[in-house]
Amino acid sequence: MALATRTDPERPAQKGPRQRPEPPRKPARRPSLIGSVWRSTVGKKAVMAVTGLVMLAYLAAHMFGNLKIFFGPGEFNHYAHWLRVIGEPALHYEWFLWLVRVALVASVVLHGVAAYQLSRRDLAARPRKYARRRQGASYATRTMRWGGVILGLFVVWHILDLTTLTVNERAEPGHPYQNVVATFSTWYGNTIYIVAMLALGAHIRHGLWSAIQTLGAGRPHRDRALKIASTAVAVVLAGGFISVPIGVMTGVVS
Ligand code: HEM
Repeated sequence: MALATRTDPERPAQKGPRQRPEPPRKPARRPSLIGSVWRSTVGKKAVMAVTGLVMLAYLAAHMFGNLKIFFGPGEFNHYAHWLRVIGEPALHYEWFLWLVRVALVASVVLHGVAAYQLSRRDLAARPRKYARRRQGASYATRTMRWGGVILGLFVVWHILDLTTLTVNERAEPGHPYQNVVATFSTWYGNTIYIVAMLALGAHIRHGLWSAIQTLGAGRPHRDRALKIASTAVAVVLAGGFISVPIGVMTGVVS
């Protein structure tokens, strides 16, 4: 008698050893909005634009604050003290400064990581030979990458110089005016700051323009005006910062 075997018409006949039934699959998780934005190229560009604008706002405030140095040690040192007591008594001593520091560190990290990942994506999207020789990166892209690296290194030096006073030989805690004068009384202090400020100007000029385009505010009919405005912001900021070492070098600030 022939043995009757029941076969499931929906299942293919099993070959070889019997397979274990698959464990029930977890329902696929919907990707979070933040995760999806971060993974997309346009999302990373938006993160770069927003964090760049946060840093630009800080730099504008910092540059205008620095100009107080032209009003003498009393006013500049008082301003440096005021930065630490903003928000008192609601906020404790230096709390506001710490909030700004946290926002800045978060912006720097997000800006740098997004820039690195975008440049890796850019290279991966090119044919191999082309990617190896790095010919594809435009002049502006290369300037932005190297400018960003220079500025990152500068900020580390700057904090060691005027915040922790580690590398500033003649610095005294609690005397920011005298510490700035000490920095710009050395040839290397002037060189480091002026080179970094020029890199900052170039970075802001192109970065601000790109941020405006990424955030959708660019229009063909106002391209020229936006380019001029980005250049003007870059010149005012870099020029304002550079006026301090020039002031010390020329004896206007002493
Ligand atoms: C000539 C140019 C500059 C001068 C004279 C200057 C001066 C100073 C001084 C005196 C401080 C210490 C403030 C204090 O502790 O009371 C400081 C802190 C700082 N500056 Fe500048 N600065 C200059 C340019 C820049 C630039 C271009 C950047 C960024 C690209 C920058 C970023 C910072 C940061 C992140 C701090 C640390 C703030 C903190 O957490 O205490 N500075 N600067």
